[in-house]
Amino acid sequence: MHGQWTHAKRIWQGRGSAWCKVDFLARSQARLSIGREQLSNFALGQFSAPAGARAMCTRGLPSSRIAVVDISPLLNGDTQGSLIAAQNLSAAFADTGFAVATGTNVPAERISTLRTLATAFFLQSQEVKTAVNQGASKGYGQSPYCCMEENGAQLLGDFSRPNDAVESLTFRTLGTENAREQLPQSPLGLADAILAFNNDLEDLRRALERACELGIGLQPGFLTQKCHAGQESLRLAHYPSIDEPLEGQMRYGAHVDSYGLTVLNLDPANPGGLQVQIDDEWIDIPFFEDSFVLNVGALLSRWTNGFWKAAVHRVLCKPGARLSIVSGAVKPGDNEMIEVFGPCAAASPGQQTPPPIRASDFYAERMSLHRPSYLSESGAAGQDAADLQKLQQDIRSYRI
Ligand SMILES: [Fe+2]
Repeated sequence: MHGQWTHAKRIWQGRGSAWCKVDFLARSQARLSIGREQLSNFALGQFSAPAGARAMCTRGLPSSRIAVVDISPLLNGDTQGSLIAAQNLSAAFADTGFAVATGTNVPAERISTLRTLATAFFLQSQEVKTAVNQGASKGYGQSPYCCMEENGAQLLGDFSRPNDAVESLTFRTLGTENAREQLPQSPLGLADAILAFNNDLEDLRRALERACELGIGLQPGFLTQKCHAGQESLRLAHYPSIDEPLEGQMRYGAHVDSYGLTVLNLDPANPGGLQVQIDDEWIDIPFFEDSFVLNVGALLSRWTNGFWKAAVHRVLCKPGARLSIVSGAVKPGDNEMIEVFGPCAAASPGQQTPPPIRASDFYAERMSLHRPSYLSESGAAGQDAADLQKLQQDIRSYRI
């Protein structure tokens, strides 16, 4: 393992990445090459376990750059299998930032129950839906229900796009009494379904923390100590069928996610539309029954100094309604200081690693970037082109 990381680090540093000089999108392009070279090494037999597992994962399935990883060993206590699964996930996060996880042990009926009730929620009147906000909507991150009030492209500093064609219902820190009290009363059973699904995800979250520790060579328990149970959110994203989207409008504009790992359950009735940008090409994320899509967020990418990639992705407008269930894992507690770890943690001469940042500060800024009112909220509206460009660079560098 150590040799693998040293190899990756040498290539990475050889690309001349510098926290203070190069934005993370440019770094992502460099690290895609690392991923490819690593995978070439896997294919050459230098790292036989990931290569074998990768081939197994895709056997009989349409060829895709996106790795499909059976993570059941991480949940079943299989030591050797856990190591292989963790290595596969780490290689996928370094290569594309995305993986499809199978074997998650989350009961299919729990997911379908939540999906059915969530769909019923969004089919209600606006009056009933906004009742969950107990008055006026304060916008994304501040009120549970938002209707066309998100602008994902702003997460990459693009303030030119129409709002995304999505309505969402989000509950944060579901482990707290306050969050549970906000859960919707209608339709009957939705609140219980949200809590039951979130509870089922806890085993998966612990398994993914262990996978990340194993995959990047951290001490066991390092992430588990920082990522407390009950921290994660659950977001139900409903994409209504829209005949004529506005010019440039997406179901979700091109963006990178903000936190640790996104854990996404696609709509089996209409899974298409999610794409990741690789080498300037948009690649479809493949769909498999009972699987979860995992992708690296900005905080985890920053935490690993770019070794794991927060890939740019988007959701295209396509015919038919679609409902995604979105949660997360590997999200450190608000008070944790984020200091880089992993094979890219040490800066080379002339380079600079991202400075430590308190997790809650990072989260607050990223959350506000979703809101169409971000520029006016932050006082940046009306500033000159040079200042706006500086702001965009800071956003793309995950400084904010
Ligand atoms: Fe996303």
